[in-house]
Amino acid sequence: MGFKWKSLMLTIFTFLMVVCNASLINSNVVRSIKSEDGDVIDCIPIHKQPAFDHPALQNHSIQMRPSNDPTMAKTEREEEVPNIVVKQLWQKSGSCPQGTIPIRRTQTKEGHIASKKPSFSHLNDKEKMVDNNDLELLQLNHSLAVLIAQGFAYYGAKGDIKLCYAQVERDDEYTTNQVSLITGPFRNYEAIESGWAVNPGVYGDRQTRLFVYWTVDGSVNTGCFDLTCPGFVQTSSDIALGAPIYPISDPEGNDPSVITIFIHKDPETNNWWVNYGEEVNIGYWPAELFNGLCFHAESVQWGGDVYSKRVGMHPGHTATGMGCGQYPSPEPFFGSAFVKRMRVIQNKVLVPPAFVNTYADEYRCYRALYLSDYVEDPEFYYGGPGRNFLCP
Ligand SMILES: *[C@@H]1O[C@H](CO)[C@@H](O)[C@H](O)[C@H]1NC(C)=O
Ligand SMILES: *[C@@H]1O[C@H](CO)[C@@H](O)[C@H](O)[C@H]1NC(C)=O
Repeated sequence: MGFKWKSLMLTIFTFLMVVCNASLINSNVVRSIKSEDGDVIDCIPIHKQPAFDHPALQNHSIQMRPSNDPTMAKTEREEEVPNIVVKQLWQKSGSCPQGTIPIRRTQTKEGHIASKKPSFSHLNDKEKMVDNNDLELLQLNHSLAVLIAQGFAYYGAKGDIKLCYAQVERDDEYTTNQVSLITGPFRNYEAIESGWAVNPGVYGDRQTRLFVYWTVDGSVNTGCFDLTCPGFVQTSSDIALGAPIYPISDPEGNDPSVITIFIHKDPETNNWWVNYGEEVNIGYWPAELFNGLCFHAESVQWGGDVYSKRVGMHPGHTATGMGCGQYPSPEPFFGSAFVKRMRVIQNKVLVPPAFVNTYADEYRCYRALYLSDYVEDPEFYYGGPGRNFLCP
């Protein structure tokens, strides 16, 4: 009897919480935009965004723009590269008024569960390649193929990431492509990252979407995509996190389209800003969220991550692809995923990373290829199809 009463109360309480939350959100919506891609974008006053529900941000005063512009620190070579501006489809259907930010409306609560996303911080062995017979993934259920810069204090990192599509076999699996900055001990690190993802668990479909992600404990208790948990402060009224981006590169490899992601620490506030397309400041992770990352990042990673309970499993490996679903190759017609124009901020200057290593958890399934000879600017190719005859 007592037990039933308790669970009934709990149900009523939960129901009220859901109703209250829903009406709270709705009362803040200034405008709603229905996008052709199926998303609904709500324009929310910038001071009412989810970030401010975070206990550490009670007294946070919002920073509207970075106090410096590290994108100006371009080398001559970089000035020759045309800016490729990747768009979001919802922008065709409307825009958010000044003082508001576009937030993608999430339909499912399950997104929070599927949004945990480990990565890793330290690698001592160079070129660590794990054989399938002796498989030890760096993080359970994750398979990575990345380029890693280590050995300096990093205050920013950027790269041009090819934009494409990769198959995700099951709804509880995902594939991401990103620039990450990481600090702290193995399995208890702080990480911030941004790039594109196919993630049906979080987004409810298999479109290529822009994301940001952060964690302060190796994704054990914290960590989420976009604005699905309080933390990231958005300032842009033009870009919606989690919204699809286009054009996607054609699979034949002609005219690949890229997104330029640049994450950098503001020297005055210590907030970590995300700049998109060398044009839009999307927003920032406030310094209050972090310990180690208040100072600097200890490593930078560029590349791909496949999340599945069936990575490292032979037979029965997942067929979820990494990158563009192809093994890495600099030949354009292979259609491989790549990151180009990799840069880091060291000693206040934007420079190509020195001392980089490639790393792949399962080189038969997803590979990493760093090309530094015969090219003016080093290039990183990565990815793979998942299950096939090489990856049984
Ligand atoms: C916010 O300010 C109040 C009043 O000064 C203070 O008591 C509280 O600890 C502050 N909260 C945070 C998270 O800094
Ligand atoms: C990894 O997959 C196993 C096996 O399905 C599951 O029990 C576990 O919760 C997963 N661990 C993480 C950290 O996602």
